[in-house]
Order: sequence, then structure tokens, then C-alpha cells
Amino acid sequence: MAGFAKTGGDMSGVNLQGLVKAYGAVQVVHGIDLDVQEKEFVVLVGPSGCGKSTTLRMIAGLEEISDGDLTIDGRHVNRVAPKDRDVAMVFQNYALYPHLNVAENIAFGLRIRKTPKDDIAQQVQEVGGILGLTDYLERRPADLSGGQRQRVAMGRAIVRRPKVFLFDEPLSNLDAKLRTQMRAEIKRLHKRLGVTSIYVTHDQVEAMTLADRIVVMHDGRIEQIGTPMELFLNPANTFVAGFLGAPPMNMITAQIVAGDQGPVAEFGGQRIVLQPLPSLQNAVGKTVTVGIRPEFAKAVDDSQPDRVSIEVDLIETLGSEALVHATLQGAPFVIRTDTVGQMEALGRIGGFTVDAHLVKVFDGETGLALPGQVLNQ
Ligand SMILES: Nc1ncnc2c1ncn2[C@@H]1O[C@H](COP(=O)(O)OP(=O)(O)OP(=O)(O)O)[C@@H](O)[C@H]1O
Ligand SMILES: [Mg+2]
Repeated sequence: MAGFAKTGGDMSGVNLQGLVKAYGAVQVVHGIDLDVQEKEFVVLVGPSGCGKSTTLRMIAGLEEISDGDLTIDGRHVNRVAPKDRDVAMVFQNYALYPHLNVAENIAFGLRIRKTPKDDIAQQVQEVGGILGLTDYLERRPADLSGGQRQRVAMGRAIVRRPKVFLFDEPLSNLDAKLRTQMRAEIKRLHKRLGVTSIYVTHDQVEAMTLADRIVVMHDGRIEQIGTPMELFLNPANTFVAGFLGAPPMNMITAQIVAGDQGPVAEFGGQRIVLQPLPSLQNAVGKTVTVGIRPEFAKAVDDSQPDRVSIEVDLIETLGSEALVHATLQGAPFVIRTDTVGQMEALGRIGGFTVDAHLVKVFDGETGLALPGQVLNQ
């Protein structure tokens, strides 16, 4: 282990400045700025086609950079060949050599680099141990499970002792249970090795659980960068609000009116009291999008006077909690609620209440969160 603790050097950060990718006249990544700190685990997340893989491949050197600057470990590497960038990439399709056993697969890169035999043997043992592959070193890939194969692919990356790990959807070929298990393993591995990592996924749960910081991408641009909880509690816009969190944040189109105590969101004859913030007070008369997380709405029955009325369509009980699927203003509205001691009450849900400070208000046109609404963790 001592050898691996040193992996990464002193300042193995990755810096992207105005990074652009164009295929001919078509630009797909529009100038991305990102500063990944040494030892940080950063996850790029966003819908299919938003430019995650392209960005990662530019960092790896597998795609030419059309414009902007890329620095790894303080060195400008735009024109440095992939093998000289000191990065190792793990892909979704982990293409192992079928005729080589696990030890030989892990050792492959070292052998090419003419690493001495004894060193190779020692490193394969060490990495095999870290990844729980010690008992499988003699096996061929065909005789391994999907998760074990993925671990071999990671082993190949680890023995290279790169400054930076790059992952492109490494778990998406695995079934749900294995994915959850491998996700935890990757997190543990990162804690143990402390290597700067950039991880691409379209799965927001993977992003939330793995990341020190999440980068939400959309259409070749960065929408927001922050810790998982920062993005969950304080999304900068409706895109981030809708993308992170499952089920997603409920959105209601409303007008801001002046209430007795301060600003109120009004829609279809119903009202939600808002925080008395200047940005909301100044928005009286405007159309906004009101965002309420399924976790923050409190389900109530018809006797609650200050409730927002909803029409419940369906209740999904998932054990200790339930998802109440309802309709509000013709759009779906979901509440996540506890079931313990509540089963009978679930049948009488007629609406919800919500604390003013848990309601997010976004500009109805731009989708940007109105300023000053900060939720602390
Ligand atoms: N060789 C190419 N020529 C033209 N356009 C391309 C090429 N490769 C990728 N693109 C386009 O670039 C955009 C970004 O692709 P990219 O593979 O980075 O998306 P992604 O975010 O990784 O999506 P996914 O989640 O589906 O993997 C897409 O619109 C894609 O069609
Ligand atoms: Mg991709």
C-alpha cells in the first residue's frame, strides 16, 4: 500500500479553461471552465448527448481540443499524447483480453512499458488484494462475473499509478444490485488511493453518492457546479432542480402576489406562502415557477385549513416510505412520506403544506432561481 499512497503527486489537479469541441462546423462543447482539485472526486452528469464523454475524452487526449486550455498537474497538455498525460481511463466496455488471465490482464500495460518482472508480480498482487481479486488471478475473463470483470478493468488502470483516473459510465453494463455494490467499492477505492478522479454518468444517484462535487451539464454547457447537497438544496435553475433528486422536484407555474405577511405564490385559486425576501417581494405581479421537493411537502387531510389541495391518483408504498402521486394544475405532483404508523392517514390525503423556506422560486422566463434563497444543510 505504501507505494500507492504516493500516487497522484503533489498537485495533480485538472484545469479546464474555455474548453471547446467542434466537429467541423458543429460545436458540441461550448467552452467549459472547471477546476478539479487534487484528490477530488468530480462527477460530470447530464442527459444523453450533453457532452460528458466528449469532455472526458478531451481530458484523456482521445479527442482533439478545438479551443481552450487543458492543464493536468500544472502542465499544459493540449498537445501532449494520451500516454504521456499520466491519466488512466476506465470505460463502460471494459474490453479485457479474453485469452489472458486476470493477472496478465492487470499486468498488460506494465509489461508493454518493460517494467521488471518482479515489480509486475508484486504490483499485481497488491492491486489484486485491493480489488478483492486475489483468488481469481489465474482465471480468464470469461469465467468471471460482470462485477469482477469491471474490477479487473479498474486494476489495469490502478497499476499504472496515474495522476488522474477518468471513468466513463463504468457501471452501466452491470445489473442494479451489482452497480450499487461497485459504486460503494469505487468510493472506498478513492478514499484509499486518494487519486484525483473525474467520473461521467447520466445517473443522478451515482453522481449524488460518489461526488465530492457534481458538475451538471446540459447541451454542451455547465449549468452548475457544487457539492451534492448544495445542488440538491440550492439548484441555480429549473434544469438542475429537475435533474437531481428522485423523484424530481415538483414544479408549479404561479403568479407572485402581495399577501398580508409578504409574498405569496398564487395559482388556480390556491396559495403558497413564500419567504419575505427582497427578490420575491420585488417579483410581485410576475409569473414564476415554484419548486417543491417531494420530501419537503407534508401530506395532510382535508381538514387542514392552509393546505394546497391536490387530487391523489395513486399511492406507491415502498416499505418505510410511500410516494403519493397526485395531480395539481393538471401536472403531476409527488409527495414522499413515511408509512410507519401512517398507513391509515395515507388514505385520507387531500393536500399538502410546506414551510416557506423549503419552497424554491424560479424566474418564469429564464428558469433562474431568484436570488437570496439559500437553504443550509
Ligand atoms: N464524431 C462526432 N461527430 C459529430 N458529432 C459528434 C461526434 N461524436 C459525438 N458527437 C455529438 O456530440 C454530442 C455530445 O456527445 P457525447 O458523447 O459527449 O455525449 P454524452 O453526454 O457522453 O452522452 P451519453 O450519456 O449518451 O453518453 C452529441 O450530440 C453527439 O451526437
Ligand atoms: Mg457518453
